[in-house]
Amino acid sequence: MICRHSDQHGGFVDTEQRLEIRTVASDVAQATFADDVRAGLLATPKVLPPKYFYDALGSKLFEAICLLPEYYLTRAERDILERHAGDILDAVGSPVEIVEFGSGSGEKSRLLFNAALARQPELHYLPVDISESALRSSADAMLDEYPTLRITGYASDYDGAIAAMRDRVRTGVRRLALFLGSNIGNLDERAACAFLSGVRATLDHGDALLLGTDLRKDAFVLLDAYDDPLGVTAAFNLNVLGRINRELGGEFDLTYFSHMASWDEADGCVRMHLASLVEQSVDIRTLGIRVAFAEGETIHTEDSRKYDLATVDRLARATGFERSMTWSDVDGRFSSSLLVAAG
Ligand code: TRP
Repeated sequence: MICRHSDQHGGFVDTEQRLEIRTVASDVAQATFADDVRAGLLATPKVLPPKYFYDALGSKLFEAICLLPEYYLTRAERDILERHAGDILDAVGSPVEIVEFGSGSGEKSRLLFNAALARQPELHYLPVDISESALRSSADAMLDEYPTLRITGYASDYDGAIAAMRDRVRTGVRRLALFLGSNIGNLDERAACAFLSGVRATLDHGDALLLGTDLRKDAFVLLDAYDDPLGVTAAFNLNVLGRINRELGGEFDLTYFSHMASWDEADGCVRMHLASLVEQSVDIRTLGIRVAFAEGETIHTEDSRKYDLATVDRLARATGFERSMTWSDVDGRFSSSLLVAAG
């Protein structure tokens, strides 16, 4: 489909010419999902990797989470970007291109586009998202809104996109990478270091990474954010079992599982599980396996680590970055740090 829209001068610009989407071969992705589900559900304790939350439905459910009054993270980070997008762009310098890992709807990215386009006439945006449908719909909307925006999207997990991006030749333009929300919080320390080192390899000395980190706070505030009374977060978590049903011939009855969030004070981490409400066995036909659950047995689906700045500093230094500036929202719930790629 070719989308046309009127530009400011009354002419027409093909948005399709400004969009390129690169996709990781889906047979590879599919094999990985099957392998990860088999390994995770046959392990003790059971575990499922969080990247599989984000199919088309999961991406929409996550957008709904971001609208919940209890999920303060999105609003806190938006507040920071509304006030400081200009400072961030000034610190990085122009012209700049913007790379975003886990772009989702790209709602917050627009605040940085506005600041960038106040400093340069055109902008190249390179979003990475594991959900191709989320990537396409947000890219289409952005190209309509911004006539001088060009998008190269990667429908991929982070590792695939980092490998692809590393080889891209780029001259005369700074790169600002974005890792917003609480995405870094979903990685354990080893994975966070590996990810940040990978991002660093896509940057030149003087480029920067804007890193969102949720801060430690009252346990009740945190638990409300990850277990809302409307049940949207529960639906988001349970959807990973629905996805196994849809894509791998699973026979999970979702009414026999429940969402659980708990706060681990010692590790500074909200832990998410799915708990089996009864003793049961579930067939997953495509995998040819039957998974047995005891009553109350859990599947670990995600951790969301809460940070302090000393930890951000330590991770940054270990991976070739130097933290140059940090901003926080008015209530001090969330922080955004600009990490500059060190020489
Ligand atoms: N990156 C999000 C976070 O850590 C993901 C998330 C929000 C999430 N709510 C969740 C993951 C509930 C699993 C279950 O805040």
